[in-house]
Amino acid sequence: PGLVITVDGPAASGKGTIASRLGAAYGLPVLDTGLLYRAVGVRLARAGGDLGDEAAAAAVARALTAADLDDPEFRTRGAGEAASRVAVHPSVRSALLELQQAFARQPGGAVLDGRDMGTVIAPWAPAKLYVTAGPEVRAERRRRQLAGQGEAVAFDEVLADIRRRDARDGGREAAPMRPAEDAVLLDTSEMTIDEAADAARRIVEA
Ligand code: CDP
Repeated sequence: PGLVITVDGPAASGKGTIASRLGAAYGLPVLDTGLLYRAVGVRLARAGGDLGDEAAAAAVARALTAADLDDPEFRTRGAGEAASRVAVHPSVRSALLELQQAFARQPGGAVLDGRDMGTVIAPWAPAKLYVTAGPEVRAERRRRQLAGQGEAVAFDEVLADIRRRDARDGGREAAPMRPAEDAVLLDTSEMTIDEAADAARRIVEA
């Protein structure tokens, strides 16, 4: 099989940007698996469902296809929060497993970005990164990103979102967010996008 690279890490750590840079550098398709959970949360909420209702969330997850992921609303602050709430349900996670693993097993290789790519989805991947940055740095990045999308949110509120999401993603029982044992940690707190992308390539090629 081609090169498979997993990129995991907490909210707004820079993993999405790094994953897309790696995809471009090596000519690999990239899957942003956060979008799957965002889509489930947003679709369930739109249908008037309760994000805490595991059976309802799993039904939405089972009906999801790759074609459903192109919706600007999935990038909003509310969608991120909804995603992390449906992501705690084991049956939601298992409903999304096959789609992610099929992507990982493409003959030409792939880059997968998420929380559990290196631990659950493709533990056999030859190249694994775990991208981190301090909570304040991540909050400022996310604040700027949201502002660029027309969603003005105060820094302190974004920081509270990030801390709550870290606690929920790291504390859940199903596939808690943590680095795979053989993942290389990349702290992007003090790096520009270009520096982080270069560092990621050096890790992959090491
Ligand atoms: O960058 P940010 O964390 O805001 O967003 P994301 O990567 O799109 O993930 C949104 C939420 O989905 C996370 O907070 C996780 O709760 C969940 N998620 C997950 O559980 N597993 C994944 N592979 C990807 C996302």
